[in-house]
Amino acid sequence: MIGGSIVTDILNRKENGYESWLAYLPKSEVTKSNYKPFLKNIVLPKKDSVVVNSSKEELLRGISSMFQVELTISTVFEGTSNIVLATADDLEQVDGLIDTDKVAQLNSEGYLMKSVPESDSIIILGKTDKGILYGTFHLLRLLQTESSLQNIDIVENPRNQIRMLNEWDNMDGSVERGYSGNSLFFEDNRFVRDWDRIKDYARMLSSSGLNAVAFNNVNVHEVESKLITPEFLPDVAKVADIFRAYGIKTYLSINYASPIELGGLDTADPLDENVRNWWKEKVKEIYEYIPDFGGVVVKADSEHRPGPFTYGRNHADGSNMLAEAFEPFGGIVFWRCFVYNCLQDWRDRSTDRARAAYDHFKPLDGEFNDNVVLQIKNGPMDFQVREGVSPLFGAMPKTNQVLEFQVAQEYTGQQRHLCYLIPQWKEILDFDTYAQGEGTPIKSVVDGSKFPYTYCGITAVSNSGNDENWTGHTLAQANLYGYGRLTWNPELSSEEITDEWVKMTFGTDPVVVKEVSEMLLGSWRTYENYTSPLGVGWMVNPNHHYGPNVDGYEYDRWGTYHFADWKGIGVDRTVATGTGYAGQYFPENAEMYENVDTCPDELLLFFHHVPYTHKLKSGKTVIQHIYDTHFEGVEEAEELKSRWSSLEGKIPPMIFQGVLERFEHQVEHSKEWRDIINTYFYRKSGIADEKNRKIY
Ligand code: GCU
Repeated sequence: MIGGSIVTDILNRKENGYESWLAYLPKSEVTKSNYKPFLKNIVLPKKDSVVVNSSKEELLRGISSMFQVELTISTVFEGTSNIVLATADDLEQVDGLIDTDKVAQLNSEGYLMKSVPESDSIIILGKTDKGILYGTFHLLRLLQTESSLQNIDIVENPRNQIRMLNEWDNMDGSVERGYSGNSLFFEDNRFVRDWDRIKDYARMLSSSGLNAVAFNNVNVHEVESKLITPEFLPDVAKVADIFRAYGIKTYLSINYASPIELGGLDTADPLDENVRNWWKEKVKEIYEYIPDFGGVVVKADSEHRPGPFTYGRNHADGSNMLAEAFEPFGGIVFWRCFVYNCLQDWRDRSTDRARAAYDHFKPLDGEFNDNVVLQIKNGPMDFQVREGVSPLFGAMPKTNQVLEFQVAQEYTGQQRHLCYLIPQWKEILDFDTYAQGEGTPIKSVVDGSKFPYTYCGITAVSNSGNDENWTGHTLAQANLYGYGRLTWNPELSSEEITDEWVKMTFGTDPVVVKEVSEMLLGSWRTYENYTSPLGVGWMVNPNHHYGPNVDGYEYDRWGTYHFADWKGIGVDRTVATGTGYAGQYFPENAEMYENVDTCPDELLLFFHHVPYTHKLKSGKTVIQHIYDTHFEGVEEAEELKSRWSSLEGKIPPMIFQGVLERFEHQVEHSKEWRDIINTYFYRKSGIADEKNRKIY
């Protein structure tokens, strides 16, 4: 019986989304014959590394699943049909075939890939073992997407040094803002110990290019505080072992008040000698269990979490104290900039939450230790469907920065609606900060090419959990995959990433590729259309943040953050008459946002308070835009559902059905959004829809 259920599980995994983009779908006979000459033997000069072993295992698995070929393994490159997995140390193996100048271009995670048509062989040469792993996933991707193996001659280095995920998992098994089941790591205040599943997760993350994970929530409560004690460190070390084999470093979120809660001290004051010593001892202990531990993520003085403010100290004092403890071990302290007064009175126009991070951190530029990295959310508010970018990017040339995205769809449909976020992230990465004049996009700030940062890159809140398909909505896997790919190479287009994901997940049937790609690519705009308009944000139910409620955001008990009255709507963030937030950007952007005529339509209400009759660049009034987009959004949601329905028979039935049910919900829920938003503004403004559609 037990055997039977394991077999069913494995069969189900091919069908229910568990295998994700690593499903390695069997190829047609024609495709097989095209690739077969390359697929006979792996040459593996180096055998003793866990990372190389993962590469070998993955290659064997992928090739056998796609081509039903069992590769042989040898240590020397001779004859034909070889896939060579080597590092720069094994150069003599590929003598004369590899240009040494190219090897010199590789960084510690980079690789080069070269086809040798004369012998139907492919060489993957990493600078280190990690390069072999990423190169292997690249080769598998080429096979999955049925790309040519002829004439390959590429050098690949990841653009970002840190490519990280923050899991928001609590030890009781819940996931904060998790929409796909429970934690992969914890249940009932202990580790789940499903190491196989964690390994599969590591494979997914590594294949997309990621190299770092902090696997507990940034809100660190009583039990999670103990993750850095001998009670749990052996299990943390076990997870770290699994991740390490896939090139991923392990980090933890910590409680700033640990010296009090774990150490029995009566203070967590960063300048107190006992506190400093306590951390030094603690960090030493962590490294005894995990010698290559990455470091910690800290949410301090934010949303009721403890921090240095309690002791009259600032964020540099707080983070540097930890950084000193980590410095001897090469560990990093990620210090989050999501610091604002969540009890602020939103009616008070002299304060503005959007200003908070810049106001707190900018004056401290240059005061942080080299192994402190400021972790900055993409926007100044909180992962809204649309908001400005954080003005901190590029504004602190002497302070390491990572950009924080949210792959979890907290405000973008909670993985029940389709909302593919790659196009949003591309816009953010491409946004020109003007920090060093024209041509200083955010991607060039966080990849370290503009400022001499010691550590930098991109991190994000994960969207995965223990649902069979990892992400609840199977199509939400594309956000996870695409996030990793973008951190590796922010120059990839949304279309390229989408095309890869669809082919790897569902195969290369052109109808499926076209339909699913187009559905994904338009879905962010669709979601924005029927939800919060023109950058004003929120409009969600309190606490869980799902579904429409114009005045509902819990930190705004007065229902006033959007300043909607009978005449107009929007937040005046100008320097001239508003909160002054627009002035936090570099002059070119500050001027663009300051002026209502040059402020882009999609952010109009984020920066300006305007009458409902204000004309947008599109020629429509604000109120008509609200009505039109909300009607259009519902039509687009209906179209998503019907396009998906047309794919029946081409998508594995379980996935098809699961996604269809979500589209059915999305259509109904989008109508609720449309009706609540339109009615609210119709009643507020008293202005009728020009097209006389029914507004409930
Ligand atoms: C948002 C989110 C919280 C989270 C916080 C954070 O406010 O709703 O759940 O804890 O962001 O990023 O720390």
